[in-house]
Amino acid sequence: MEYNIAVSPQKERKVADTRSVPFGLQPTEHMFITEYANGEWQSPRIVPFENLVLSPLTLSLHYGQTVFEGMKAFYMADGKINIFRPEKHYNRFCQSLERMCMPKVPKALFMEALHQFVQLETDWIPQEDDGSLYLRPFMIASEARLGVKVSDEYIFMICATPAYAYYSKPLTVKVETKYVRAAEGGTGAAKCGGNYGASFYPFQKAKEEGYDQILWTDAKTHQLIEESGTMNIMFYIDGTLITPALSGTILDGVTRDSLLTMAKENGVKTEERQVSWKELQDAFEAGKRVEAFGAGTAAVIAPIETLAIGDKQYQCYIGDDAMMYQLRDALYRVRKGIDKDSHGWNYVL
Ligand code: COI
Repeated sequence: MEYNIAVSPQKERKVADTRSVPFGLQPTEHMFITEYANGEWQSPRIVPFENLVLSPLTLSLHYGQTVFEGMKAFYMADGKINIFRPEKHYNRFCQSLERMCMPKVPKALFMEALHQFVQLETDWIPQEDDGSLYLRPFMIASEARLGVKVSDEYIFMICATPAYAYYSKPLTVKVETKYVRAAEGGTGAAKCGGNYGASFYPFQKAKEEGYDQILWTDAKTHQLIEESGTMNIMFYIDGTLITPALSGTILDGVTRDSLLTMAKENGVKTEERQVSWKELQDAFEAGKRVEAFGAGTAAVIAPIETLAIGDKQYQCYIGDDAMMYQLRDALYRVRKGIDKDSHGWNYVL
């Protein structure tokens, strides 16, 4: 073991029943934490979950130098515990950190921390089929200084909350053609806090109009579909699974990649390319069966029932035989260890 992680468990363990608790509200009993100073990650440790003490001058509070990941641990059918695709999450974390001028966490430290943390919190992993432990590795700039600069100090942490369905029903989504999530050369491909903060205003306005989510379009033309607020977007039209190509303005989603890989393996034609809202509109107007769904770690697959393009509302296909459910089930079977994990996605504890 390269890293010696000190573990101070709670004296008395108490696992809460979280089935009816909304996503992200109930932390587990512990957290992993390490501080970066003088070019080194120091005192990595797992401690009882507690609030952070930060100076009001802390850089991340003012300038948004923060990056996070979202990943999941599951119980497998044989009772073992599986963290799904931690290496892909780690790689994306590193890419986000680089874009935000933040130091990388060595892979061995990331993996060791994750392993020990999940092992300590196994009682918090829901046993139900639709449950998982949502893991949130994240880093914040912690130098206490108001000057606008790259921080010299950071905190890297992992905390977790039990999770069930992120969306409880099929979504009504609006194609957004005024506000922008990300422009070329910006931070769209990074999982940084600012991308989410900047989306709140348009999201709030869409909510007031009765929508559950926004479908972002490109910053230049507002013609091309990019991603949704909390997930990537996929369509299934005429026997083809279509999703916007990774252009630098959208997130390289782990669920997106898993679904594309499994679709190809199961003989489904896939296309990663530009998708315009006009193309979708033409498909709807031609009476085609259009499936539209979000794909993300928290959401897994989020069926879209109604898609609003301009002042028109179109009904998407959400019937039981929809391709999105077949893909969701295929993903489930791999994660549970029911089907063969031919890509080594499962990190089994
Ligand atoms: C995820 O799917 O893991 C996300 O990060 C989306 C959201 C919870 C912010």
